[in-house]
Amino acid sequence: MAHLAVLTAKPDLPLYAGLKEAARAAGHTLTVLDALRLAAVSDPPGVWDPQHGAPLAGVEAVLPRVGNWRPDSILAVLAALEASGVPTLNRPAPIRRGRDHWRTTLALAAAGLPHPETVAGSEPETLAAAAAALVGFPCVVKQRRSRMGVGVIRCACRAELEAVLDTLWRLGEEVVVQRFCPPGGVTRRVLVLDGEVLGATEHRAGPGEFRANAARGATVAPVALGVAEADLAVAAAAVVGLDFVGVDLLLDGDRWVVGEVNPTPGWKHFAAATGLDVAGRLVEALARRAVPP
Ligand SMILES: Nc1ncnc2c1ncn2[C@@H]1O[C@H](COP(=O)(O)OP(=O)(O)O)[C@@H](O)[C@H]1O
Ligand SMILES: [Mg+2]
Repeated sequence: MAHLAVLTAKPDLPLYAGLKEAARAAGHTLTVLDALRLAAVSDPPGVWDPQHGAPLAGVEAVLPRVGNWRPDSILAVLAALEASGVPTLNRPAPIRRGRDHWRTTLALAAAGLPHPETVAGSEPETLAAAAAALVGFPCVVKQRRSRMGVGVIRCACRAELEAVLDTLWRLGEEVVVQRFCPPGGVTRRVLVLDGEVLGATEHRAGPGEFRANAARGATVAPVALGVAEADLAVAAAAVVGLDFVGVDLLLDGDRWVVGEVNPTPGWKHFAAATGLDVAGRLVEALARRAVPP
């Protein structure tokens, strides 16, 4: 029996109740740690639990869940846990890479994996000029840390692009601009765990929408992946360095390219569509890593 944990800033999500249940069924215990109620300690590295007035102890493996709510605080606690010897399913540096569209693009480009041409920058006229020269129209502006399609905007022409970039610049947002992959609205979400494809779903956006996020109302259906797509998803997970990941493949004409490598994929829609026991597989992967104290 292993003592497993989830580290999150949203401990009440139903997803984690399901993980607890899966751990119990497999004879383990799983604690949902509220990262915002723990403090990272630098020296000696570890985590302080003020509720118990003591260092956090006994956790044998951890699944980090880093969303847009206080990501740096969660990553600080995660790094301290890791430095104190707790194995983590997804390490801090790859999580940072996967959360950032630009760093992900650099990793994909260095490995020669297909992805939409992307430029990064901030000053609106400079970035618009680079995008017009290198990416073309339509293009897609993305906040570097967008989630669930929020902060992902299609621009049909240079005037529209400049207006969007100008607004985001004033708000202080860091962005990238990407080539739009036609026809838009169709993606495949591949869940990869420890270098293996767990399964895949196809997402289709509703009418008038190009973002195929389930959170934006896209339909989600199970899909059988071809070998090339499966290999592409596994390679994308490996170059970003993530153990558990949702790789989004975008339809780009007649081929698939890597659109996103998500280090904190949800699995509610995925499990409902495919019938796969994602929680059970995650518990197995955590238990494999567990180091008894
Ligand atoms: N370059 C692109 N061309 C066409 N569609 C895109 C492109 N980039 C993103 N999309 C669509 O927008 C959705 C959200 O973008 P994504 O990069 O996955 O950000 P998020 O992290 O917010 O989900 C994708 O699932 C896809 O449907
Ligand atoms: Mg996405």
